[in-house]
Amino acid sequence: MEQGHEVVLTGGDVTEGVVRAGDTVRRPLRAHSPAVHGLLGHLERVGFEGAPRFLGIDELGREVLTWMPGETPGRPMREYAATEEALRGVARLLRRFHDAVSMYEAPPDAPWDVAFTTNVDDPPELIGHCDVTPDNVVFRDGVPYGLIDFDLARPTTRLFDVVNTLRTWAPLADPADRDEVFARLDADAVGRRIRRFCDAYGLGREERRRVLPVARLRFERSYLAMRARAERLGGGWERMWRGGIGVRIRRGQDWLEQSWDVLDARLG
Ligand SMILES: Nc1ncnc2c1ncn2[C@@H]1O[C@H](COP(=O)(O)OP(=O)(O)O)[C@@H](O)[C@H]1O
Ligand SMILES: [Mg+2]
Repeated sequence: MEQGHEVVLTGGDVTEGVVRAGDTVRRPLRAHSPAVHGLLGHLERVGFEGAPRFLGIDELGREVLTWMPGETPGRPMREYAATEEALRGVARLLRRFHDAVSMYEAPPDAPWDVAFTTNVDDPPELIGHCDVTPDNVVFRDGVPYGLIDFDLARPTTRLFDVVNTLRTWAPLADPADRDEVFARLDADAVGRRIRRFCDAYGLGREERRRVLPVARLRFERSYLAMRARAERLGGGWERMWRGGIGVRIRRGQDWLEQSWDVLDARLG
């Protein structure tokens, strides 16, 4: 595969050595990569356009993926990605992904990255993306159309992936820890955004009632998982921990408890 000029990509926290080469992306292989490649192959076969294609392994042993043109709107989050229209677009994209992946029968021994996860205890229904943050959604002309970075994909539920996505897009976070564009949203406005997201996704009534309880459980598991990843895996995980991710999760938990009734009223 032709290599050409390489540009280092720095959007994420974790993966060192992600580069763009022409219309491809090269990423180091990890233990879970074969599971992700199987998933990307399925998405290609069913014609899901919202994920990169897996093209193979290059001469340096890196995975080769197609480049998805556009922009990931994280750090700081761009205004256009904070609109209700963008929020609905992300919800619809997640729904399309879930519908496309729901038919996927992953090999039973697929090596998903399931060490120290934030999963809740419901039996898995599908392979979730589990990391739909503004760094991992590609926008083109203001419209979210691509999911990238399937490193945390694993068996889970639709509801869990929805809650996980809401964490950064509602967002479910203390105002002090949010992106500037979300800093002034009060709990009522966040509640409305959660509702809009659930409507656009088409989340059923019963699952909707479980959004906040699952968020509560996920926050707790997230704290433990991030700490374990920092201690055992080091690298970007350790940098995030030293950067205060644990403190921010704890503040998010407090904010959720204080805002519970207002959020719940909007979801009902
Ligand atoms: N296939 C792709 N198409 C477009 N942009 C990409 C693609 N892969 C990575 N990027 C860009 O590179 C950044 C980092 O890549 P990512 O795969 O998310 O690594 P990390 O594990 O560090 O988060 C992304 O936020 C995005 O801006
Ligand atoms: Mg990423």
